[in-house]
Amino acid sequence: MTNNNKKIEIKNISLTYEGSGTVFQALKDVSLTINDGEFVSIIGSSGCGKSTLLSILEGLRTPSAGEVLIDGKKIEGTGRDRGVVFQQYALFPWMTAEKNISFGIKQVKPELSKKERLELSNQFLSKVGLSGAKDKYPRDLSGGMQQRVAIARALAMDTDILLMDEPFGAVDAKTRVILQELLLHLWEGDGNSRKKTVVFVTHDIDEAILLSDRIIMMRANPGRVYQEIPVNLERPRSRSELVKSREYSAVRNEIMSLFFGDIKDQIDQEAVI
Ligand SMILES: Nc1ncnc2c1ncn2[C@@H]1O[C@H](COP(=O)(O)OP(=O)(O)O)[C@@H](O)[C@H]1O
Ligand SMILES: [Mg+2]
Repeated sequence: MTNNNKKIEIKNISLTYEGSGTVFQALKDVSLTINDGEFVSIIGSSGCGKSTLLSILEGLRTPSAGEVLIDGKKIEGTGRDRGVVFQQYALFPWMTAEKNISFGIKQVKPELSKKERLELSNQFLSKVGLSGAKDKYPRDLSGGMQQRVAIARALAMDTDILLMDEPFGAVDAKTRVILQELLLHLWEGDGNSRKKTVVFVTHDIDEAILLSDRIIMMRANPGRVYQEIPVNLERPRSRSELVKSREYSAVRNEIMSLFFGDIKDQIDQEAVI
């Protein structure tokens, strides 16, 4: 269950991109607290700063103002407490599926022996239904299979925090549903294990509702937090049950109307220009 320990504190973050005489404010005064074991999705139109925010959490970018605390401590660069899954280029093309995972584990747990790492790799490949693909290279796997390996790697690394930026954005609709269910199942676990804290960026409203405890909606120009929508649907969840529930429709309608408001504002703004 989610408890009230603060895991990630984003405090008044702003970020400007500067280049060849232009200054662009990608994020303005973003504040957000994410609890230990919470699954939070970030949604919002393209260009509202979702990936920028995630790269700050990852430690790849430093905000122009504000700070991020993890477990109460200001982050300085990347850390072994954070694993990432992105839409593309997630796997090393010159390593087999098994080696990709083993290499990921080595980054965060260098104390493990090679044998232990390979054992863990295979355990997680089996969790994502890919035991048979351990010796395959990414080029020999479908996009969906590659993302399953990337998820297996992120989970095998066993970091407290998982940062996911549109991880299912590049796979077909059917595979996407399968991967969502897989992630949900692995994250919810058996109900006894400690849950990871997940920050999940997506365009897909249904995906966000299915997975999240809370949805953060951002808006662009400048990128900022616009609304927080709690998702108080019972867990464990299944898509087939969810879509029948009245609470699901209520949350979905709320987000849809916020989204349409956002799109309408953008059209109005462009009409003025
Ligand atoms: N390296 C960069 N230099 C200049 N502008 C950038 C850079 N990266 C992103 N941007 C701009 O910042 C805004 C936010 O980008 P991004 O965080 O990728 O948005 P999102 O992930 O929500 O689509 C966009 O307008 C984008 O064009
Ligand atoms: Mg993005």
